[in-house]
Amino acid sequence: MRLLSVRLIVSLILGVTLVSLFSTYYEVRREKQGLRNDLERRAEVLGESLVGNVEPYLDGKSLKPLQKIVGRFSNREHLVGVAILDTKLEPIAQSSGLAQQLKIQSLAVPEAIADNEKKSHFIRRDGRSQHIYILPLHRNDEVVGELVIVHDANYIDAQTAHLWRETFLRVLILVVLIAFVTLVIVRWSIAGPIARAAQWMKSLRTGRAGALRAIMPDLDLLRPLAREMETLAESLTAARSAAEKEAQLRDAGESLWTPERLSVHVRSKLGNSRLFVVSNREPYSHIRRGTSVQAVVPASGLVTALEPVLRACDGTWVAHGSGDADLETVDAHDCLRVPPQEPKYTLRRVWLTKEEEEGYYYGFSNEGLWPLCHIAHTRPMFRITDWEHYCGANAKFAKAILQEMEGTAEPVLLVQDYHFALLPRLVKKARPDARVAIFWHIPWPNPETFGICPWQRELLEGLLGADLIGFHIQSHCTSFLQTVDRTLESRIDWEHFAVNRENHRTAVKPFPISVGVSSTPRPQPDLNVYQERAALLQESGVEALFLGVGVDRVDYTKGILERFLAIERMLEKYPAYQKKFTFVQIGAPSRTHIKRYHDFLADVQAESERINWRFQTGKWKPIVFLNRQHSHVEIEHYYRAADVCLVTSLHDGMNLVAKEFVAARNDEQGVLILSRFTGAARELRDAVLVNPYDIDRTAEAIRYALEMEPEERTSRMQRLRKVVRDQNIYRWAGNLIGDLCEVRLEAPRNAQAANRVAAGTS
Ligand code: G6P
Repeated sequence: MRLLSVRLIVSLILGVTLVSLFSTYYEVRREKQGLRNDLERRAEVLGESLVGNVEPYLDGKSLKPLQKIVGRFSNREHLVGVAILDTKLEPIAQSSGLAQQLKIQSLAVPEAIADNEKKSHFIRRDGRSQHIYILPLHRNDEVVGELVIVHDANYIDAQTAHLWRETFLRVLILVVLIAFVTLVIVRWSIAGPIARAAQWMKSLRTGRAGALRAIMPDLDLLRPLAREMETLAESLTAARSAAEKEAQLRDAGESLWTPERLSVHVRSKLGNSRLFVVSNREPYSHIRRGTSVQAVVPASGLVTALEPVLRACDGTWVAHGSGDADLETVDAHDCLRVPPQEPKYTLRRVWLTKEEEEGYYYGFSNEGLWPLCHIAHTRPMFRITDWEHYCGANAKFAKAILQEMEGTAEPVLLVQDYHFALLPRLVKKARPDARVAIFWHIPWPNPETFGICPWQRELLEGLLGADLIGFHIQSHCTSFLQTVDRTLESRIDWEHFAVNRENHRTAVKPFPISVGVSSTPRPQPDLNVYQERAALLQESGVEALFLGVGVDRVDYTKGILERFLAIERMLEKYPAYQKKFTFVQIGAPSRTHIKRYHDFLADVQAESERINWRFQTGKWKPIVFLNRQHSHVEIEHYYRAADVCLVTSLHDGMNLVAKEFVAARNDEQGVLILSRFTGAARELRDAVLVNPYDIDRTAEAIRYALEMEPEERTSRMQRLRKVVRDQNIYRWAGNLIGDLCEVRLEAPRNAQAANRVAAGTS
């Protein structure tokens, strides 16, 4: 550092000195030239006036007037003297000073007489500088002599020398100032931040840096470098914590799944192949906000589940481009790299017309299959036009997937959900060398229920194109096999849970989906749980002692109305909780385009208002309904502040809210009330399980949860947390992809197809 500042200062000094000297040299030259011109002009003016006075007396009659004239000028500034010479350069008259100092002939210039011209020149005699001005003298147009004017030019040299001295001093002061200022700048703006950065990096290297952003020093001028260092530091910290985690796991002999383990596992399973995922909902949609475009992550458990997998293995995710600025953010092939801040995988967008979206998504998927698979007493709607759009959209997505798969031998495809029942068969037909799995995120009903769908055969045939079909729980697998058994000609292998049909085998297996549990300890919140609870309620203008929370899309399967009724019943039966217990329902608007959802939202609003009107007093009310999309961070605050979380779905494939609540409670507090009709109820046995249709018992469960002994509450939450930690989302993805990669492709036809694909002739 010291060497750097010395070098910097020396270069600066040299530069400044050279520039100063150069400019002074030109300034001095200009000054000197100016003084000389001035002297020459003075001599010229004097000469002109003398010539007029002298010439009339050159008839040789008397020299006295001439002597008098030259004598008159002897005392002018810088004038050494004046002399009048004849044509032989002999003096006729001269001023006394000149006569004493010089031999005047030596100053005369015969050419002036010969050329009949004025002459002006500077000479140096005996170390002194002089200016000589010579004018020819005439009589009757004939040159009869010359007038010599001598000026002392030494003062010009003196002034020039003075200028040089002044410049030297100026440069010296400048150099000292520059050296000083540079030193100060180096110290404050460069050396200081570098020293702080070095210190910070050292603590990072030695593992003493904790909260990175908090202690990252201000690097001032080096800010761009600081940003890079910050990213580097984060990667380093992540790598270190992953390594520590691995070591802990090895030490504990556990088999916990982590993002790192999933990454290694998926890469080793895939080998040279690539992973493709298709879902209706995209992981990032671009939304116009005013004049800018923002990448938004939709509130979807599916997205949360699949993101880490795609990040781990740089796959391709094909999804419906539904954002209003989606089109302008893709390349010529409808692709873009995501996440936007740190691109790790490719998102391929598929475009649907309004009619297609209406028929395929709102119509057949959400007015047909959704109520068909959920036993929630909403009649499924089956319209032929919706079915046609469903077939068309499945074909469109299949085309996009096949394009993306071009050039990849034995690709691995994960199809997501009930929007794409026909996709496995379409893809498998074109690419028999592909390994295809479909994960059905909602329940599978019994054969009688499914049998009301006019296109049940086509749906089952489409699904059975897959090599592997995944459900959340075993009973959905059983229902599926029973449905196939009753509907299609096939051989069911009940021992191994598989369907053999038309030389193709499809395995059917449960993979309970989950959430990720953060491995890094959460920073201590600024507020304790009571303060946080009061602050959250205050946002809605409410005061209460106990807090209950529910988080759902506003969907008729979620049992929101039943939940409200249970709260009403609890307040009725146990009035001590009036003015004390408030339930916050976070309700993300969903599929509001569908009449049933639109009406349901109005029902939820009306019911909460009715119950509030009945009980509310002062600053307290029993239900706060927050009908908007909330971010994960916002929801976490409610999870952490709540005494009780209510999940009362009438029917649910899994329900990730139950697992998210448990994952958020690292304080091992809070009670989960969970509907026994959710997939999650099979794993989360330590929740307080309820039948949401039984309003009275659910009311009792709420009271029980609020009055639970602290020891019981903690031990229940500890056991719940162990389940969620062990059966996490990384295990789900690892098992699903692992099982799919183990699938043996049907031999001869596939080998040929694979060869054709690899040779690019498919
Ligand atoms: C269900 C589906 C998910 C879907 C979610 C949100 O849980 O199983 O696949 O992500 O609903 O629904 P949406 O229609 O908004 O995508």
